[in-house]
Amino acid sequence: MEIYNIHIVEHTAFEKERAALLSRLPFEQQQRISRFRKPLDMQRSLLGETMCRVVLGQHLKKAPVSIEILKSEKGKPYLKNQPNLHFNLSHSGEWVVLAVDETEVGIDIEKIRKIDYNIAQRFFSNEEYSRLEALKGDDKRRYFFTLWTLKESYLKFLGKGLTKALSSFTVIENGKDYRIKHAEQMDETIFFNTYEPDASHLVSICSGKKDVPGKVHILKIHNLINNPSI
Ligand SMILES: CC(C)(COP(=O)(O)OP(=O)(O)OC[C@H]1O[C@@H](n2cnc3c(N)ncnc32)[C@H](O)[C@@H]1OP(=O)(O)O)[C@@H](O)C(=O)NCCC(=O)NCCS
Repeated sequence: MEIYNIHIVEHTAFEKERAALLSRLPFEQQQRISRFRKPLDMQRSLLGETMCRVVLGQHLKKAPVSIEILKSEKGKPYLKNQPNLHFNLSHSGEWVVLAVDETEVGIDIEKIRKIDYNIAQRFFSNEEYSRLEALKGDDKRRYFFTLWTLKESYLKFLGKGLTKALSSFTVIENGKDYRIKHAEQMDETIFFNTYEPDASHLVSICSGKKDVPGKVHILKIHNLINNPSI
């Protein structure tokens, strides 16, 4: 498994690179991204789409613009005719993150921020909610976002979007390891990795194999524009 991160840049720096980044994308993607009204949403989407195409292009020895990305019925992007190359993308706060693997993968990043814990009652299982309620202050907030990213990465691994209720399964913590429990049944087929790109963001990655990703590659915009060796 390979992990790539790219940091959001300040608005004027992004504006200077926008046209060059767009030129790496197929026409329909250029149009889709140009329709974003909020500059930050546009930047997240453009960096994500370009990072996927550049990294996958390296794997497939193809130009980024010619990579064929399809979407499943529930919206999960995947590669056409490439059963052994999978990827998933996430963006939040100041980062866009990408996981690439030979088998299905899900990744989720969240910026740790102020949150209304009422949301946890809807999205967490009873067991998760009780554990959360026993915590206070920073520990509580951190725990909330750790669970959130783990649960989201699992849904993104499955590719089901929100059609699977987030409260229908429980994340069990075992030291630094996490597992999924359905009712009282542990799921032995699902594995997680977590890391922190910086002090205010958490990332979880879900996979069907126990695999510790190597180094996290930090890319810069120029890596996406010039033909990179990454
Ligand atoms: C769309 C969803 C897959 C992820 O949404 P998200 O966490 O807001 O967004 P992320 O940045 O992590 O992921 C978005 C990327 O995931 C990919 N994606 C989209 N649908 C997907 C699916 N069904 N499965 C896997 N990946 C998907 C796309 O690459 C998308 O990128 P794009 O928006 O640039 O096209 C879905 O799970 C969702 O809507 N979640 C809502 C979040 C929520 O309420 N969580 C409560 C947790 S307590």
